[in-house]
Amino acid sequence: MTEASRSSNSEPRFRRLLVTGGAGFIGSCFVRDVMARRDGTSIAVLDKLTYAGNLANLAPVEADSEQAARFRFVHGDIADPAVVAPLVAEADAIVNFAAESHVDRSILEPVDFLRTDVVGVQVLLEACRAEQQRSAAGERPAAPRFLQVSTDEVYGSVETGASREDDRLEPRSPYSAAKAAGELLAHSYFVTYGLDVVVTRGSNTYGPYHYPEKLIPLFVTNAIDDQELPLYGDGLQRRDWLFVADHAGAIWHVLEHGAPGEIYNVRGGNERTNREVVTTLLEQLDKPWSLVRRVQDRPGHDRRYALDGSKLAALGWTSAVTFETGLAETVRWYCENESWWRPIKSGEFESYYRRQYGARLAGSSEAAR
Ligand code: NAD
Ligand code: DAU
Repeated sequence: MTEASRSSNSEPRFRRLLVTGGAGFIGSCFVRDVMARRDGTSIAVLDKLTYAGNLANLAPVEADSEQAARFRFVHGDIADPAVVAPLVAEADAIVNFAAESHVDRSILEPVDFLRTDVVGVQVLLEACRAEQQRSAAGERPAAPRFLQVSTDEVYGSVETGASREDDRLEPRSPYSAAKAAGELLAHSYFVTYGLDVVVTRGSNTYGPYHYPEKLIPLFVTNAIDDQELPLYGDGLQRRDWLFVADHAGAIWHVLEHGAPGEIYNVRGGNERTNREVVTTLLEQLDKPWSLVRRVQDRPGHDRRYALDGSKLAALGWTSAVTFETGLAETVRWYCENESWWRPIKSGEFESYYRRQYGARLAGSSEAAR
């Protein structure tokens, strides 16, 4: 059961949401789950439809006449003030998922990460500040709430223990540095202007509709086709896996209940090495380990992420989906939805794949078990 359906009997605090990046992986899950509650909430999605954005992710909403009546899609850039201002003016709350989100791409080409993950956030915040001024002038009831979706990667690599919200930030990739800058800007608008800002820092998320450049969807779709699985380095890096509906539910919970100016870790509670993840997904697909290749490592590869989730637990939210259950659901979804991912794995994806993995796979050997 998703968080959205768990809280389906309560009145939502915000009636009109602007969801930026809502055609991506986590944002579209948030939109589908909130819309499926049928509580009257209306959602405008603003999305640039980069390689990672996909209108097919929102098809279940568009296909349902009651949901479609409460839904609007706007194709545009969060870094464009002219697009953003009128949408923020109509919103009670903004949930910002929009980002360049893939670490490997940030290592190849960092510039888009700064434009979207930093400048884009600032443009959204400025629009909120203009609405705060309209509110003070009596032109709207209250300034909008702004929720910035951030990441556990801002803490950097955590060799032992678990990161708490007041720990020092030590981002180590262009992606995580840009995400840290974006959330620090958001926090600065709370401190300086008194905007109602909340931040979530989620851990590694997986599930249906995940663009197949990330570890789990890449390996599942490659394995379905009996293609090589490029495991970086020794494969002993550790991540804490969070099912996408849990992550979307946590963001809803913080939107509803989070205190202004506060940051909340969203912990999955499923820490695994990459080798363990690959072993489990191969078992679920009934595919052999011989597909796994040991390839050259990611530069600056963070060894481990781990979050302390006690602050959000005290606010009333903990994750519900175990890794084995969520992964089985994910594997089943990719097996049943080839029409979603096969078109994605051609065109732009092929040239990215060659650039990222061509030399790596050419110089690879079978990974030791
Ligand atoms: P994603 O890459 O699947 O989706 C990003 C979406 O943002 C896409 O629809 C894309 O078209 C859109 N977008 C990109 N640039 C834009 C711009 N300038 N203007 C408007 N839209 C734009 O990402 P995701 O995995 O769904 O992640 C969503 C958010 O959650 C990101 O902010 C990411 O940093 C954060 N996050 C992700 C994870 C994870 O494991 N996937 C974990 C923690 C936090
Ligand atoms: O922790 C949250 C972050 O999780 C989010 O902020 C990011 O948006 C999201 O992309 C994710 O970042 P990671 O770098 O941890 O995820 P990725 O799926 O790219 O990699 C997971 C692990 O698997 C990491 O240790 C690198 C490794 N890996 C990844 C790929 C794509 C491989 O070994 N081979 C691969 O081909």
